[in-house]
Amino acid sequence: MLGLIAPVLLLAGLAGPVAADSPELGENIWKKCRACHDIGPDAIRKVGPPLNDLLGRVAGTFPDYIYSKAMIDAGEEGLVWTPETLDVFLERPKNLVQSTKMSFAGLRKQADRDNLIAFLAVYSSDDQTVRDKHLRSADPQLPAEVLAIEGDRDYGEYLAGTCVGCHQQSGEDKGIPSITGWPSETFMTVMFSYRSKFRENPVMQQVAGSLNNEEIAALAAFFQELEAAD
Ligand code: HEC
Ligand code: HEC
Repeated sequence: MLGLIAPVLLLAGLAGPVAADSPELGENIWKKCRACHDIGPDAIRKVGPPLNDLLGRVAGTFPDYIYSKAMIDAGEEGLVWTPETLDVFLERPKNLVQSTKMSFAGLRKQADRDNLIAFLAVYSSDDQTVRDKHLRSADPQLPAEVLAIEGDRDYGEYLAGTCVGCHQQSGEDKGIPSITGWPSETFMTVMFSYRSKFRENPVMQQVAGSLNNEEIAALAAFFQELEAAD
């Protein structure tokens, strides 16, 4: 099997997956996956396995999911999901794992694959660390339908005018915490935590108290795009 995998990977290496991709654009492409895959907190098994912490996962190893023999074999022969291997797989799954039971033709456009991989990376371990870093145990978990609200980034930019007096848009932390580059779910959870007074800072309780769900989602979409502080 590896004999099959290697040449394809070599070709992909020549094309070179491009950096600086947009998780936000990738979220749109994700719509093609989510009939079969779930991602995010409490992701469940669907037709396909959950795709949290995908980067670094040995193929065919999500616990309690029943893979095809082909996928398990590919993992045993050394297939690990990285931006490079995903790029090849997502272009045409059967080119990489010939008898996979994932029936998906593939994404032909390089940009679509790059953006989607950037989106998947948000849910992989590095970003898991970012998420854990910002959340506190007292923060209540938001219902999925609230997290699913798609924030209007431009509206968020407009609303952020009231935040950047205190929070630095550059992500600099001058005594007031940096809020740039967070995954939007984390951002929304924290804002709701202030609004419902699980978090105690009175200034932020007031700020969050004046925002509705759509406004919080819009702010989350805007701040997520800004460069993280560290
Ligand atoms: C029609 C359903 C379907 C669609 C659509 C689909 N998948 Fe899958 N996917 C599966 C199934 C089923 C498997 C298990 C494959 C196997 O065992 O051979 C899988 C496996 C995978 C794996 C391997 C995971 C692992 O744990 O090794 C990745 C990565 C993946 N899919 C990504 C995607 C992405 C990204 C998309 C959207 C572009 C997508 N899939 C669209 C059904 C689907
Ligand atoms: C008057 C100054 C001020 C304004 C205006 C303000 N904040 Fe804050 N914000 C703070 C302070 C101070 C904290 C730290 C509070 C704490 O310790 O809980 C904070 C904390 C936060 C946090 C949590 C940071 C963390 O690391 O836990 C988020 C998210 C946040 N603010 C978002 C916003 C947004 C979005 C706006 C605009 C709608 C805004 N803030 C407006 C002062 C402000």
